[in-house]
Amino acid sequence: MINVATRNPSTRYSTGAIVFHWLIALLIAVNFGLVWTVDSVSKAAGDKLVANHKAIGILVLLLTLGRIAWRLMNRPPEPIPGRARWETLLATTVHSLFYVLMIGLPFAGWALHSLYSGGHPVSIFGLFDFPGLPFAQDKQGGEVAMNVHGLLADVLLVLAALHVAGALKHQFLDKDGEIWRMIPRRR
Ligand code: HEM
Ligand code: HEM
Repeated sequence: MINVATRNPSTRYSTGAIVFHWLIALLIAVNFGLVWTVDSVSKAAGDKLVANHKAIGILVLLLTLGRIAWRLMNRPPEPIPGRARWETLLATTVHSLFYVLMIGLPFAGWALHSLYSGGHPVSIFGLFDFPGLPFAQDKQGGEVAMNVHGLLADVLLVLAALHVAGALKHQFLDKDGEIWRMIPRRR
């Protein structure tokens, strides 16, 4: 078993990167859960779920901008040595697409909200307002943005399945300790 990750600190993600990773992954999962529940509750309860979905989505957008800034200031670890080239390439591609989606998906949501509402702000849990995009009301444009939003969400699900399959492969088949690069160190 190589288990480089637990031995050499320079092969691990920084604590900030780890916090961003798991917080954003959790918020994304909650956001899918909220929107998938809308059809099984009353209209009033559904409206509340969608309002929370929007607020959490905007948080994901803002946290992702913070995460990218953090990544630029804190170098991620090198790929695990000895790994096949195709695997490193696949992981890098999935990670890059994740960044595109963590921006593009909530942005499409922000756009569809703004197009349907004519630029209304998004209420963040009733605590404060996040501005809407400066669009005039446009239902057809809103529908297009909704379709893009749904499509990007589907792509994210496929990538997440691939990503988790990769993590499980490394944990149980390769047994290379990769998961510990993304988990706070045990003292
Ligand atoms: C983490 C970010 C987000 C994820 C993972 C996500 C995911 C989804 C998914 C899977 C759907 C259902 C799509 C369909 O039925 O085809 C949806 C619908 C929707 N999303 Fe998002 N979304 C995110 C961010 C946002 C943001 C930032 C907004 C607006 C500010 C937003 C507004 C909406 C609205 C209004 C709907 C339609 C809900 C309904 O009436 O059923 N989303 N989203
Ligand atoms: C929607 C949810 C998720 C998203 C968007 C996501 C996104 C990412 C991204 C972008 C990276 C690359 C970090 C960087 O280099 O900057 C990464 C790394 C990683 N993720 Fe996730 N992730 C998610 C869920 C998960 C889950 C559920 C697991 C575990 C089963 C996981 C395990 C890992 C591990 C172990 C790494 C480090 C890979 C390495 O050492 O090269 N992720 N993730």
